[in-house]
Amino acid sequence: MKTPIPIVPVRSCLQPDAATAAAGIVQRKLHIAVLRYDPQQLHVAPHWQTYVLDDAPGMTLFIALTEIRERLDPSLQFDFVCRAGICGSCAMLVDGRPALACRTLTKNLQASFRLAPLPVFELIGDLSVNTGKWMRGMSERLQAWVHQQETRPDLTRLEARMDPEHAEKIYELDRCIECGCCVSACGTARMREDFVGAVGLNKIARFRQDPRDTRSDADFYELVGDDDGVFGCMSLLGCHDVCPKQLPLQTQIAFVRRKMAAMGWK
Ligand code: SF4
Ligand code: SF4
Ligand code: FES
Repeated sequence: MKTPIPIVPVRSCLQPDAATAAAGIVQRKLHIAVLRYDPQQLHVAPHWQTYVLDDAPGMTLFIALTEIRERLDPSLQFDFVCRAGICGSCAMLVDGRPALACRTLTKNLQASFRLAPLPVFELIGDLSVNTGKWMRGMSERLQAWVHQQETRPDLTRLEARMDPEHAEKIYELDRCIECGCCVSACGTARMREDFVGAVGLNKIARFRQDPRDTRSDADFYELVGDDDGVFGCMSLLGCHDVCPKQLPLQTQIAFVRRKMAAMGWK
């Protein structure tokens, strides 16, 4: 029989703002259920553990989890680096929807909610997953760097100029922080282990539009002209809906699909 897991309250170190305190408004309690599992401890089955803490103005999920870890349960595993929506390391499922913990305000959530690790990626423990390994593998497979024909680049040459219109387009797609939200929201990624995901297709679109990259559409077809690439995409656009950087994934996937479909007809 499983031992029941205690629900332990913890008071937030974020103080209510002066107006809230003066008005005597009671801060609501958050009931945060976290899916706990450590692959290193196979004798402990995955289970939900609920933590209770005071909500506070401006509290993000990242702050809530940090409070739990610092004041209540140091064994809780989750990732963060920047706390500003830049590094992409704090993505997790919030009530089943991929989101960045550091950009999710608790005031926008119900008082009780569930947190789980992103699916598809290798689980490190609790809410921590190895997105880096997946992203590295995908980037290497898609050769996600500017390809030029010259074998020995001239290091004394000035940087290549680019017109502002191209630079802006590429900058827009380079805003991807490789958080993995789009991959976790993707039905195809759940079914096909080698599917490159919206993040991969976005990279192909980025290099296809980079005038410095000398690869042809035939070269790109070799990389994503199959069911693990753009033809595996079901176009339901879960990726587009959850991308925390609001990248134009719908447009970019359609762009890659058009180019690759044209290659297939040749
Ligand atoms: S495309 Fe968006 S959701 Fe996908 S990895 Fe990049 S930033 Fe994250
Ligand atoms: S549109 Fe394609 S890449 Fe995006 S979630 Fe759906 S299947 Fe995945
Ligand atoms: S901690 Fe860097 S994106 Fe959330």
